Amino acid sequence: MQDAFVQSRAWSYLHVVLVLFSFRFFPIWLSLLADITSASNIAFLIIDVQNCFLSGGSLAVNEGDDVIPIINDIRCKYETQFSLVVLSQDWHCSDHISFASQHPGSSPLQVIQLYYGQNKTLCQLEAACDVKYSVNQTLWPDHCVINTTSANFGGNLTRKTSDRVIRKGYNCKVDSYSAFFDNGGFEHTELHSLLQSSGIEVVFVAGLASDYCVYYTSVDAVNLGKFVKWIITYHKCNVNDYAYMAIYAFT
Ligand SMILES: *[C@@H]1O[C@H](CO)[C@@H](O)[C@H](O)[C@H]1NC(C)=O
Ligand SMILES: *[C@@H]1O[C@H](CO)[C@@H](O)[C@H](O)[C@H]1NC(C)=O
Ligand SMILES: *[C@@H]1O[C@H](CO)[C@@H](O)[C@H](O)[C@H]1NC(C)=O
Ligand SMILES: *[C@@H]1O[C@H](CO)[C@@H](O)[C@H](O)[C@H]1NC(C)=O
Repeated sequence: MQDAFVQSRAWSYLHVVLVLFSFRFFPIWLSLLADITSASNIAFLIIDVQNCFLSGGSLAVNEGDDVIPIINDIRCKYETQFSLVVLSQDWHCSDHISFASQHPGSSPLQVIQLYYGQNKTLCQLEAACDVKYSVNQTLWPDHCVINTTSANFGGNLTRKTSDRVIRKGYNCKVDSYSAFFDNGGFEHTELHSLLQSSGIEVVFVAGLASDYCVYYTSVDAVNLGKFVKWIITYHKCNVNDYAYMAIYAFT
């Protein structure tokens, strides 16, 4: 395992072990998954595998398409062990506040601050309102717009009629990386109550992108409840021509 390495660090609220494998160690990952799945009532959360984040999309993740066969493979092999499969879907207004196109003179990846008043509505001008909340917003190209093919799930992604879809980011004035809460923490989706009502104790998370929506969904899942013992996220990127995936074990 020459190109596998292990890093660990302590966080204030949880301990995270991050293991990065070269893609060829995928079978090891699968056997680990098999060990874990013998345990509890499990949900598989598939985050934002949508055309906008896939090749040809306006906010395409490097090699993002490669998560599709992996996710399909996991479903094929472990479907019976998941009591719930949830797909999250980024679902933005065409004039969403996170789009650089809505901020004249700005460009994608620029970070701006958004201000919200006591009633959690956006202050158009900071000076014109009693600021209660401030949110750092990275600006993005227009993406995943409601009712467009850009927002559709990847055509090759395995889907079943029993899958639940959780939409997020539909508030035009605040972004939402996590499938649980928007970035201001103002409103929540129905995901948490769905997990609770389904008696879920363990959540696996996979999807796009590992540094934003998969990451924030995972952290919120840990913070929300004791039902989370393990979170596994996929991360694939073209660092040094290797395909990597990440396993975060939250204990
Ligand atoms: C929220 O507060 C702002 C002023 O801070 C006001 O302009 C706006 O109408 C309020 N919105 C609601 C829904 O109460
Ligand atoms: C927002 O960005 C500023 C400046 O980069 C930084 O100091 C601050 O900690 C950030 N706030 C949050 C909540 O991330
Ligand atoms: C999206 O399509 C649905 C169903 O056709 C419709 O009810 C809804 O108003 C549309 N939303 C937007 C923002 O176009
Ligand atoms: C689905 O996968 C096939 C085979 O890998 C590929 O040729 C095709 O372009 C994919 N379709 C989509 C919509 O990604």
